[in-house]
Amino acid sequence: MRVALGVTGGVAAYKAAELVRRLQQEGLEVQVIMTRSAQQFIAPLTFAALTGQKVITEMFAADSGAPANVESAIEHIAVAQRIDALVIAPATANTLARLARGIADDFLTTLYLATTAPVIVAPAMNVNMWEHAATQENLRLLRERGARVVSPDEGYLACGMVGAGRLAGTEAIVQAVLEALGVSHDLERETVLVTAGPTCEDIDPVRYITNRSSGKMGYALAEAARRRGARVILVSGPTALEPPSGVELVSVRTTEQMHRAVLDRAAEATIVAMAAAVADYRPTVQHSKKLKRGSGPASLELEPTPDILAELARQKSDRILVGFAAETNDVAANARKKLASKGADLIVANDVTQKGAGFDVETNIVSIFTRDGREISLPQLPKFDVANRVFDEVLQLRQLSRSDSTVPRQR
Ligand code: PMT
Repeated sequence: MRVALGVTGGVAAYKAAELVRRLQQEGLEVQVIMTRSAQQFIAPLTFAALTGQKVITEMFAADSGAPANVESAIEHIAVAQRIDALVIAPATANTLARLARGIADDFLTTLYLATTAPVIVAPAMNVNMWEHAATQENLRLLRERGARVVSPDEGYLACGMVGAGRLAGTEAIVQAVLEALGVSHDLERETVLVTAGPTCEDIDPVRYITNRSSGKMGYALAEAARRRGARVILVSGPTALEPPSGVELVSVRTTEQMHRAVLDRAAEATIVAMAAAVADYRPTVQHSKKLKRGSGPASLELEPTPDILAELARQKSDRILVGFAAETNDVAANARKKLASKGADLIVANDVTQKGAGFDVETNIVSIFTRDGREISLPQLPKFDVANRVFDEVLQLRQLSRSDSTVPRQR
């Protein structure tokens, strides 16, 4: 989702840099628009560096001596149509007045009139300006027209006075933006344990058995759960990925390490989602010295690894267990079998031979099989969207269990 962040000219303008970061952490793309007075307090370059996008500073390219940063005379209309929300922080008394009266004399105020996206304003100013009847009247008008106002905090103000007028905290503004966008924190009370990536089983000091998992599906689950407000523990095999911010990472390499890490932390989890591609077998013997090449064929004896998902399912608990099934044939039949044999509440099955699905790609094509007998087939989607659909089903299952204690569990 895209958010336009209008920065206007007040001492609190520097705080908008932190706001950009937080909005980005929520997965939002941020387009910054600065008024002329804002540029007296902070340079557009700061925001350009943070967002990786040009900052809009003028209505018309000719207005500035700087290189053109507005593509066309109707750029405000294009931006108005592209955005999902307009947030103005800090919003000065002057900007509030122009918005309330419909004065469109720069890019930001013109965008305000042109957009139908929700508008959030976070005022910041001197306490007397804040309390002035004109400012309060303008805020009333803006509220009446649907704008959300994140009221300023009280405290010491830059002007030396004490009172209301400090820009509200970044978290309060972020929450208002998320609410306006309809992004819910419906996993707020949950602790989600996610497994991701491959495991590696050593043959000797230089060779090991592994698989093609990149960790992308598991990391997408961790990120989606985090964004929906969950506490997230990510148990990950070796990957080249950056863990999503705000997630607790437990790095493991072998199936035995993943087994231990998951069992150690499972008591904390209310939801477990196992996207890791865990080795089903490991060499019976791990040689301490590199095996030498012989002249004839060689064979490797393998023993089964612990089935982590099945072991978790045997523990009596209300925790919801999501397993993944990487299949190459008879996807539905195999997924249903796994649902029963592993004792999971949901199995997310992917046919890893399909283009755009499975290992080391950005998208996945999955069918979700639930313990109450439903099957939901999804089209090709980015892994992050798949993750969100999985959590939608988890929440639905939880609701069903609460409202109907007779739902059969196939454990
Ligand atoms: O990481 P990516 O590149 O993004 O690829 C994503 C993926 C293809 C790895 C993922 O979508 C996926 O399908 N993960 C499960 C892979 C797998 O091991 O499937 P399985 O059918 O062998 O295992 C079924 C379930 O049991 C899985 O949840 C697995 O984590 C679990 N398992 C398996 C073996 C074992 N010893 N213990 C387990 O807990």
